Amino acid sequence: MNDPTLHFSRRKFIRLCGGTIAALTLGQWPSAEAAQQRAAEAPLRQKQHVAHNLRGGLDIQYVRQLITRDPAVSRTIMWQADELLGSVRVEYRLPNAARSLQTEASYDFFTGADRSFYIYSSTLTNLTPDTAYEYRILCGSYGTDWFPLRSAGRSTCRGLLFPDSQCIDYNCWRKIALLAATRNPDAELFINMGDLVDNGQAQDQWRAWFDGVNGICEHLPLVPLMGNHEAYSLDWEYCLPRDYLHEFTLPNNGSSRFAEYYFSFDFGPVHFTVLNTQFEELDGLRPGLLDEEIPWLRQDVRSSSKPWKVILMHRDIFTYSDQPDGPDIGNIFMPIFDELKIDLVLSAHLHTYRNRGHIYNHQPADHGPVYIVTGVAGDIRYPDIWINPTFDKVVAPQPETDNYITFEASPRQFDLRCFLPNGDEIDHLQLQKQVKK
Ligand SMILES: [Fe+2]
Ligand SMILES: [Fe+2]
Repeated sequence: MNDPTLHFSRRKFIRLCGGTIAALTLGQWPSAEAAQQRAAEAPLRQKQHVAHNLRGGLDIQYVRQLITRDPAVSRTIMWQADELLGSVRVEYRLPNAARSLQTEASYDFFTGADRSFYIYSSTLTNLTPDTAYEYRILCGSYGTDWFPLRSAGRSTCRGLLFPDSQCIDYNCWRKIALLAATRNPDAELFINMGDLVDNGQAQDQWRAWFDGVNGICEHLPLVPLMGNHEAYSLDWEYCLPRDYLHEFTLPNNGSSRFAEYYFSFDFGPVHFTVLNTQFEELDGLRPGLLDEEIPWLRQDVRSSSKPWKVILMHRDIFTYSDQPDGPDIGNIFMPIFDELKIDLVLSAHLHTYRNRGHIYNHQPADHGPVYIVTGVAGDIRYPDIWINPTFDKVVAPQPETDNYITFEASPRQFDLRCFLPNGDEIDHLQLQKQVKK
């Protein structure tokens, strides 16, 4: 289902731009100190750099919550350090309670293409649904401040969603993320649709990305999708997404070859299925992803009793190119989405916002999944992407700026809204369904 009208190949575009972007990101990329200075000076900043001093002279960095298969009863906490920490664990409790529990943390010494450091992970289990907790990191007799943590409820879901956040200057990402979080203090999770960073093996970029969600990722569970830019090496060749896989502990998909490449989770009345669309990048390095993923998708969705079924995937169903630069995602997945009665398919990759409405059997319809391309949350834009008059019901004002999305679900209703940085709402999708009694 290729669109023949837009005359550029994304693969060719990345090849052509790679040198320029590499020069910007690798040669002139601001140092961590410069990024810290920028953060301290920026008016939107609420806190300083994300290093949390343990009062024992050791700093831990980038404390974050990660989604689990059932976030009503469990939550993964991760953080990083340049030094090996002894006797590390997570302590958690009801707010200000005298009694607390502790869990051990595992660690991994990660040697990336340009930096080595320790990554720690600990999963809290047996939480009570819809309950406020607080947690902190302990190292020996020292500890961080307490951070809030709320377990998911069973009947509602309120979240933030950010499309591609890859940047040349991650101030753009920081500002849109903080705007969205500040305007939506009741958000319970946040999703990033892949291409979190422009070069997935550049640790300075990952650190700039984490700086952008300082004050957010400690409080809300993150759902990070893998995009194609997570599978590029520093010299812009395809590579396995080592940094992404080490940075995030993600729900178990039962696969021995592609653990954490794709996964699913529940949140309130919604079952989210996160697909991996990086076949082009990965097939020459680790073949078999698509063959493994399709039967898993069918089994995963059919086994869920949640009223809402939502697909999250980085690449879109249309290529918008006369020179397809990868497998035809639409022809592969759209018949399966019809078969599984998926409610909503959210994609990214094109750096544009499009609401295509319902599509069934490859045609506009009054039923079937609703397809939305979620826009761009970074400063890398692809200009003049063709508007498809057959499918594109809502298109962001041109030329596009960055955007973010909010969503709220109850068993009967699903609302999704798209906002510009100035607060303008440019789209509101509302889906409703009858709930069987
Ligand atoms: Fe992208
Ligand atoms: Fe992409």
